Amino acid sequence: MAEYHPKTIEIHGNIKNRIKSGPTSFVAQSTAFEHETAEDIENVLRQRKFGFTYSRIANPNMAQFEEKINLLEEGIGAIALSSGMAAVSVGLLSILKQGDEFISGYSLFSGSYALFTDTFSRFGIRPVFVNSTNEKEIENAINNKTKLIFIETIGNPRLDVPNLKKISAIAKKGGIPVILDNTLATPSLFKAKNFGADIIIHSASKYINGSGNAIGGVIVDSGTFDFNKDKYDDFAPYKKYGSLAYLAKTRRQIHTNLGTCLSPHNAFLLSLGLETLDLRMKQHSQNALALAEFLSTHKKVKKTSYPGLKNSEFYETAKEQFGNNFGGLLTFELESKEKAFEFINNRTFLRNLPNLGDAKTLIVHPASTIYVDYDDETKEKLGVNDRMIRVSVGIEYKDDIIREFDEILNKI
Ligand SMILES: Cc1ncc(COP(=O)(O)O)c(C=O)c1O
Repeated sequence: MAEYHPKTIEIHGNIKNRIKSGPTSFVAQSTAFEHETAEDIENVLRQRKFGFTYSRIANPNMAQFEEKINLLEEGIGAIALSSGMAAVSVGLLSILKQGDEFISGYSLFSGSYALFTDTFSRFGIRPVFVNSTNEKEIENAINNKTKLIFIETIGNPRLDVPNLKKISAIAKKGGIPVILDNTLATPSLFKAKNFGADIIIHSASKYINGSGNAIGGVIVDSGTFDFNKDKYDDFAPYKKYGSLAYLAKTRRQIHTNLGTCLSPHNAFLLSLGLETLDLRMKQHSQNALALAEFLSTHKKVKKTSYPGLKNSEFYETAKEQFGNNFGGLLTFELESKEKAFEFINNRTFLRNLPNLGDAKTLIVHPASTIYVDYDDETKEKLGVNDRMIRVSVGIEYKDDIIREFDEILNKI
């Protein structure tokens, strides 16, 4: 357990090791780092001494960001990367190799779905898709080739909420880890480690950044899964790192070699965003609940999905996992695609763009943007249809948001 409250850690990072001098804000915009002696560089590279040599491997801004996220997720270490997709790719490729299978929820961000189906398949790695809210289906999908289970805390954009404790119990029985994409809940709403997530991944471009000004990702190891077993034989050379084997393998064999490093300036922006994460997540959640309640009673809205709505089939699990704050993402459906387009084209301060987690309220028509490459059947499986608008509810004044939705709905 962290000694300080997460609100304090978000701002100060590691207080125990704080150096009480120097700038409170800095960007180490340097490709490489000079050392006094040849011995010094060797010692840093051999990890006998803490330090930095080359920014593709590590950089002070990356390290600061990694430390904060790791403290917030209560992990044993973190790796910051160039994007959320880099985090998903690298986090999984460290475990998977040719001939392996893994289980993934169908309710998935389109980029992860494309990575699993279009890219991993080229390397002989097979995803087995399941309904991640059906534990029996998950259990039945495990076989001796299965190396991990991948799920999203809140499926984007289906907004379903898998029961992590139950899935973790199944994974433990099967001797495999659970990798959780915690982007939509963030460590502010969900202490994923306490519910059994072995590896936690974030697209930091979203709520962690909070202002839509930098792409980044992060992987955190909870330290709860031991890869030192026959099934994970290519971890053998990393046995010497003990409980840090996953982090060492991921950083050295995959992250550094693929060059998926986070830029120092983006790491700085992500750390800055993190300072207000908790405040923002509460506001996003309150505004989203109010908007979801408004939309769910509006006669022109055919369906509203938000896990915080009491009539949502995922409400009980969401409440158990997140308490009273259910995140900032919701979807609603109008009569037709034409009506959805009309809604978007009549906006005033809402932004029409394919992002989420910004302080500003964002709307997008997923079927014709993020999911444009998929046929109707695949879209349906991924939880998308032509009538749907996705809303990333911002932290503006709640009544202004609701008024804008009301005005547009009355106009179309
Ligand atoms: C749940 C989820 N995971 C991963 C990603 C990928 O993140 P990035 O765009 O930072 O690569 C996204 C992006 O929207 C996302 O919503």
